[in-house]
This record gives sequence, structure tokens and C-alpha cells, in this order.
Amino acid sequence: MQRLPLIVPNPPRLADYKTALERIEVSGIYSNFGPEARRFEQEAAARLFGGEGACLTVANATLGLMLALKDAVGEADGRYAVMPALTFAATAQAAWWAGLTPLVCDIDPDDWTACPAAEERLLHQHGDRIAALVPYAAFGHAIDLDRYAWLAKRHEVKVVIDAAASLGTSDAQGRSFGAGAPFPVVFSMHATKPFAVAEGGLIHCGDRDTIERLRAMANFGFAGARSASVPGLNAKLPEVLAAIANAKLETFGATCAARERVTAAYRAAIGGRYATQPAPAGRQALGFFQLLLPRGADRARVAAALEAEGIGTGQYFSPHIGQQPWVRQVATIEPTPVADDVAGRILSLPLHDAMTAADAERVIAALDRACAAPHGRHRPAHRRQQAGPARRACARAGADRARPGDRRRPARPLCHHLGFDRADLPQRGGRQSLSRDRRARRPSGGAHRGQLSRRARRAAGGGRPAAPRDGGPVAPASHREWREGADRA
Ligand SMILES: Cc1ncc(COP(=O)(O)O)c(C=O)c1O
Repeated sequence: MQRLPLIVPNPPRLADYKTALERIEVSGIYSNFGPEARRFEQEAAARLFGGEGACLTVANATLGLMLALKDAVGEADGRYAVMPALTFAATAQAAWWAGLTPLVCDIDPDDWTACPAAEERLLHQHGDRIAALVPYAAFGHAIDLDRYAWLAKRHEVKVVIDAAASLGTSDAQGRSFGAGAPFPVVFSMHATKPFAVAEGGLIHCGDRDTIERLRAMANFGFAGARSASVPGLNAKLPEVLAAIANAKLETFGATCAARERVTAAYRAAIGGRYATQPAPAGRQALGFFQLLLPRGADRARVAAALEAEGIGTGQYFSPHIGQQPWVRQVATIEPTPVADDVAGRILSLPLHDAMTAADAERVIAALDRACAAPHGRHRPAHRRQQAGPARRACARAGADRARPGDRRRPARPLCHHLGFDRADLPQRGGRQSLSRDRRARRPSGGAHRGQLSRRARRAAGGGRPAAPRDGGPVAPASHREWREGADRA
């Protein structure tokens, strides 16, 4: 049977950009934002972002994030960049290279992006010690950029979006994710992404001046003459790669449509039996198909069983960044029970341009067999009801969506960040840190300085009071209110 690897990079064939390579050779321009890069930037702005704002090519998304963060915060002085635990190491690395301290927060149990309540609690708790928010649009999921625009104004905090996996994501009206955003949105064109080039990144922003500042920074800080006027490094995309990107643009619509068909087939075959991110109203660009194994399943054995059937798997992002040794050395890490649970169960399944709906059905049938097998340790519903603290802490986790015939008690309608039983918290740091964790989990504005332990106070600002900037309210509940708030602010 045909093998289905997890990822099959699909950059354009040589024949599709051979003429462009010849053009490059004739012109003798191999880099320095030459004609191929400029053409791609203009075409991407027009065709991917509906003519809004502008785009900048960079050598990869990591450099793009570094530049955007450095431009946003200036002298960072070790202030915080808030980011979700479930992301790639590059998010934390880029913040650190920009002089920021990653402040790692938990994720939302339903869509696996940064938990909104955690972000707002941290903004109120740490005040101006937070320089930037760096949300990750997890696996191409369209996070609410209006809300981030509101937070940016409300808390005078900078925002840079890690949209590494999101080229190809669009809303129900077909508007691309990030189009016209008031802050930089950074995409990757790595060979493993749906917009497969080789290496490469694309920064989009609704503000053209921001793009031109970033262009100077990506070119050693040269704003005009060869004299550095702003901080910079070399992040330019070579012309050869820009030529490949131009060729990819020609077929990207077909790529997205093919992947969307496979994604729909996955969702239909899963039929709610495994937790996934919610189906989008529009289109979600997916590099692979992510789901959560049932609690108690042995992921390594399930993966081995799939491999034996010729199906490659991965586990993005496990370990999550809060579990990675270097990040643990340099970052401040919040309790992350939901991310721990999701990263512990996540399984990445094949999704490539040439896959068919039947391939997706084959993968899910193999997964069902693997989970049902004794070694898969797929526990029946009545056993799962007695699952331990992680399940209770994640009472709202998508994994716990009711299934037909499942008589478990309904999930509690609580955001896990807004208070749950002591027994619900993971027993990681002993009693002392357990109680610190509980205090840190009070609703926004409720984490009074006097109630924090010495260690938590240090994290909150080196011993100085970390009052909210104005003690004002948290973000309103509806997107409409966010938008209106942003308009007013
Ligand atoms: C979330 C996230 N951020 C940043 C990056 C870095 O992208 P690049 O490889 O283009 O530097 C990746 C790469 O996969 C990613 O997944």
C-alpha cells in the first residue's frame, strides 16, 4: 500500500521557474530586494491580501519575528513578550533575540491558541513590564486580530503575530488572515508549509511605513545610503528563492483547495470521535492534520501502529515551549495545565497536496484500529469519567466533547483560568507553588500584589509594584465591543 508520509514538501517544479532563474543570471542581481523579491512582495500584497497594506520578503519567519519585535519594542530591557505554550521554539527564540523575556501562558482548550483570559490577567498583573504580545495563530487557525488591536490600544502594548503556518488561511468572505492588520503578521514559506518554497518568510502589515522600516532593518539597518541608521541584520530573501515564491503563487489557489478537500474528508471520517480544532467558517491552511488522542492512549504505540501501516505521524508541538530546557532557563513560565494536556496527546497526521479523501479515510480507519487495540489503551467512557486532575482541569477541553452514548457528567462551564479546585491543578511544584498557582489564576485585576508570593512578585516586576496601567476593565466580551472599543480608543 502506498506510504503516506507526514509531510511531502511541494515547492514548484524547476520548469515553473527556470525562466526566472535565467532572468536572474542575465541581470546579475542575486539578492538585495531585487526584481524577483519586489515582484513577489507586490503580487502577494495584491493577490493574497486584497491590495491592503504591504509585504516584505525575509529569509525566514524567525528573522521576520525578530525584526518585527525589535522594531516594535526598541530597547526591550528584558521586558516580557507574552506567548502561548503551544508554539514552535522560534517564537521564544525570536523574542529573546529581540531582547525580550518570553512569558509563556496557557492555551485555550478548544482552539489551542493563547488563552484570552490568561493574556489579560498577565497584562493587568505585570503592567508595563509587558512590552509585547506574540500570539501564535496555531496551525493556521484564524485568531481574532480585532481583539489584539483592542488590547494593543487598551494596554499600550505592542503586538506581533506569529502566523508561520497561516499563508492560505482566509475568512468566510475569502479575506486572507492578517489582511490590513495594524501590526506585523509574520508568515513562513518553509518547504514544509502549504506555501512551500524552501526557506523564506513574508511579513504583512496594513501600515506601509512599518514595512519600509522593517525593510531597512532586514538590510543591516540601511535606510537609504549604506550607512546604518537603525538596528539591523541581514534577513534578505535571495532572488532565487523569491523566483520560486513567485512560481508558488501561481498554483497556490489549487494547493489550498486540494488541502481543504482532504481536511474536510478528515473531519468527516473523524465524526467527532477525536478532539480537533474547531472547523473554521472560512479556510484554514493546514500543514498536517492535528487531533488529540483519547486520554490513556499510548501515543508512541499508536504512532508505531500507524507507521506499520505506512502512515507517518508527528507530534507538533510536543514538548511545548514551556517544557523545553533552554526556554525554561530564560523564560517565565505560567502554569500550563491545558497545554500540558494537549501537547501530551496531540498527534499530527499526513496532509499533502496530492492526498485524496480516500487517503484521509484510510488514516482515520488505521487510527481507530490503533486506538482500539489493547496496546492503544483506549479506555472506555466509564473509565475515562474517573480520569485524573488534567482532565478535570481541562473540563472544557475539546477532547471532552460529548459523544453519543457517553454518560459522563457535562463539562463544567468554567474557564480553567478563572478558578478551579485545588485538586484540579497539576502537582508540579509542591504545595507552595500550588498555592502560588492558584493565586495567579484569579481573574484579571484580582491578583493583588499583597497576595502574591515573593517569587511571583519577582516575576511580576523585580520587586516593584506591577500595577495595571490604569486598573481599567478587561476586554469586553464580544468581538463587536472590541471593535467599538478599538475605534473609540
Ligand atoms: C509557530 C512557528 N513560528 C515560527 C516558525 C519559524 O519559521 P521559519 O522556519 O520560516 O523560520 C515556525 C516554523 O515552523 C513555526 O511553526
